[in-house]
Amino acid sequence: MKLAGRTALVTGGATGLGRAFVQRLLADGARVVIGDLRGADVAAAEEDSTGTRCFGVTMDVTDEASVADAVKAIEARFAGVDILVNNAALFSTLVNRPFEEYSSDEWMQVMRVNTLGPFICAKAVAPHMKGQQWGRIINVASTSALKGLSNMAHYVTSKGAVITFTRVLARELGAWNITANALAPGLTLSDQILKNDDHMAKFGEAIRKSRSIQRDALPADLVGTVSFLASDDAAFMTGQTLCVEGGAIFV
Ligand SMILES: NC(=O)c1ccc[n+]([C@@H]2O[C@H](COP(=O)([O-])OP(=O)(O)OC[C@H]3O[C@@H](n4cnc5c(N)ncnc54)[C@H](O)[C@@H]3O)[C@@H](O)[C@H]2O)c1
Repeated sequence: MKLAGRTALVTGGATGLGRAFVQRLLADGARVVIGDLRGADVAAAEEDSTGTRCFGVTMDVTDEASVADAVKAIEARFAGVDILVNNAALFSTLVNRPFEEYSSDEWMQVMRVNTLGPFICAKAVAPHMKGQQWGRIINVASTSALKGLSNMAHYVTSKGAVITFTRVLARELGAWNITANALAPGLTLSDQILKNDDHMAKFGEAIRKSRSIQRDALPADLVGTVSFLASDDAAFMTGQTLCVEGGAIFV
């Protein structure tokens, strides 16, 4: 129960990896808010039917007013956000293609959710974190940005920006005892990824072979890192990108 008394917001927490992060933060004793475009209420009720330690807010991370409303609702019910997990992104639904085949609109849509979203959410929670001189921002990046993975140029580039934004946040917020770190997973078998034959066919076997520990990654492989980064144990670690991919890449 190392996070007892803390409030966490997990964006995109209704499904996939975000849902696994929600479950781990709840197990660690935090109050957890699931923020998602859809399904947040249902997911939260499945986690805690009483609503005492978990509730859902429908929010769009790319819309400043929507994020501000969500933060207000969290403050009213649980107090301010102490731990922000910027997990929402466009990923599992994306089609893999060479970069020349993406339109500018597709590029901007991915950038909007994956880079503008974390910026808006960090901005919305920073005042509370600064006020109490404690905060944790965990941005979900991807090892694809470090590898320069082919055939998802918009997504891979967006995750490079997430890593850079994490470093900037660490510099700008350190004086208030707020840490910002990135978790970089490799291809991980979340529920939505399992439905995307394109991802599985193109990346599955090659990615397994590229790892020191040559097996599929599961959401459970990632949650311990989020738990650690959210805790007091990680108080002096900031601006870092932790690659959790069975030793596929060493940084
Ligand atoms: N699964 C993987 O293999 C993998 C690997 C590396 C990094 N990641 C990263 O992990 C995170 C979660 O991945 P996932 O596989 O669970 O993805 P997913 O597509 O299954 O889930 C993304 C969630 O974000 C939500 N979302 C999308 N746009 C939103 C918006 N504008 N506002 C609010 N919520 C929004 C979706 O509704 C969904 O619940 C993402 O940041 C992804 O880039 C995933």
